[in-house]
Amino acid sequence: MEKIVEVEEIIRLLNEDFVREIEATLIYVRNAFVMDQCDPSRVTEDIAIDEMRHMYWLADLIVKRGGKPSMEHKELEFGGDDLKSQLERQIALETEGIEKYKQQIDAINDAEVVGVLKHILDEEKRHRKEFRMRLERIDE
Ligand SMILES: [Fe+2]
Ligand SMILES: [Fe+2]
Repeated sequence: MEKIVEVEEIIRLLNEDFVREIEATLIYVRNAFVMDQCDPSRVTEDIAIDEMRHMYWLADLIVKRGGKPSMEHKELEFGGDDLKSQLERQIALETEGIEKYKQQIDAINDAEVVGVLKHILDEEKRHRKEFRMRLERIDE
């Protein structure tokens, strides 16, 4: 497979990631407030802060390459009214991120970008595991 080297294309991909991180941050902040159980709410709030840190890392990569971070996020999907549905939505967001980051790590030829994306990928895997543990406790 031919690697992506054009800076414009790398900026475009990083902006897709940046927007996904904005959406995750906003959804998790809101869901942390509406969850009535303390533990999943705390975990969701902590992870929202990780997602905001991912926004900073991505924005830094974008700006260093001459781009501007895009703030054009889609309409937010929070999941349903119950904890189970919200956790399922959050797990789906993490899975989407994990798939995208894996593809980009394979495709992009820029060592600094790939290094940051690998670090973010590890955190998204941990997030998904944290949310799955809370979901399993509901199903018990
Ligand atoms: Fe993230
Ligand atoms: Fe995450």
